[in-house]
Amino acid sequence: MLTQALFAFVHFAAAFGVAATVFFEWFVFHRRVTMEEARRLARADLWYGVCAAVVLGAGFARALVFEKGWSYYAHNPFFHAKLGLFALVGLLAMLLCASLMAKGAGA
Ligand code: HEM
Repeated sequence: MLTQALFAFVHFAAAFGVAATVFFEWFVFHRRVTMEEARRLARADLWYGVCAAVVLGAGFARALVFEKGWSYYAHNPFFHAKLGLFALVGLLAMLLCASLMAKGAGA
């Protein structure tokens, strides 16, 4: 019971962490970033990745062990939509990161 609540809390807190880092990057990012701002953005991006990994890990732990069991979620279209969106956003973030790194290497 306590572990179940703990995983729910971690999942929820990490989801807020994802939102907070995205907002932070949105506020700080503009066309001409200073070196200090670039460092801040890189740190925020690292935390974004950490929070996303925690959301995913805690989410799967909940789906498999602590909530209704995998057979329930495996047949739930909302869960499929949620996983699909999560994967899509992760893929877009990786593509953006790769294109920025390629531009940086070319500059
Ligand atoms: C950024 C993406 C995500 C956000 C914002 C998010 C948010 C939430 C919220 C608000 C809840 C309901 C509150 C709670 O019970 O804690 C929840 C429940 C849950 N989430 Fe996520 N989640 C995300 C990604 C994921 C992923 C990737 C998985 C699976 C790998 C997952 C698995 C679950 C499960 C199993 C529940 C419990 C559902 C139930 O009560 O039956 N979540 N999530």
